[in-house]
Amino acid sequence: MKFFVDTAEIDAIAELNELGFVDGVTTNPSLILKSGRDIMEVTKEICDLVSGPVSAEVVAMDAEAMIAEGRKLAEIAENIAIKLPLTWDGLKACKVLTDDGHMVNVTLCFSANQALLAAKAGATFISPFIGRLDDIHLDGLDLIQDIRTIYDNYGFETNILAASIRSVNHVQDCALVGADVMTAPPDVIRKLVSHPLTDKGLDQFMADWAKTGQKIL
Ligand code: E4P
Repeated sequence: MKFFVDTAEIDAIAELNELGFVDGVTTNPSLILKSGRDIMEVTKEICDLVSGPVSAEVVAMDAEAMIAEGRKLAEIAENIAIKLPLTWDGLKACKVLTDDGHMVNVTLCFSANQALLAAKAGATFISPFIGRLDDIHLDGLDLIQDIRTIYDNYGFETNILAASIRSVNHVQDCALVGADVMTAPPDVIRKLVSHPLTDKGLDQFMADWAKTGQKIL
């Protein structure tokens, strides 16, 4: 499973990238707001840092304007994935922009039928938002599994990009059901390393080592 980082914070992306944990980046208007940066500038900086797909989202509501915005965003760098909302107009724009040869990430997906339409419109990525489904007491993971089944049934090549990841369990569950990619905030990716038994075991080893009075260096 590929790891995308869901942020527009350059420092966090750079730190994770040095460890080889960044296969791509996703941003959205809320994340751009949080960064306090200009969308074109910060997206260019991210694209200079990361060689994988970097999603940048359009904000127009009609297909024609989405296509124009998408083409402008795509000029930032070759690794831009144009992010479009899962609306009728978004799907129209998806068809045109993918036919042009651009990568497209269709976002705000909350049903398997929406994912089916996005795949038929040629999307490179479909972004089902699992955390937001969990927030309203539905099962976000069921949606990932349903989309996996449908895409495999018919050989769709659209990548399932599990989004709205809120916990380390989400990451593990997405890997188990076969999401192609997951995008998570930097903190969730950092938390993947934690286990209380690792901490406990290390404390014991350090205490015993101190008692030996030895040094390695
Ligand atoms: C995905 O591309 C979105 O940017 C993101 O995962 C949304 O997550 P949220 O529901 O935690 O805002």
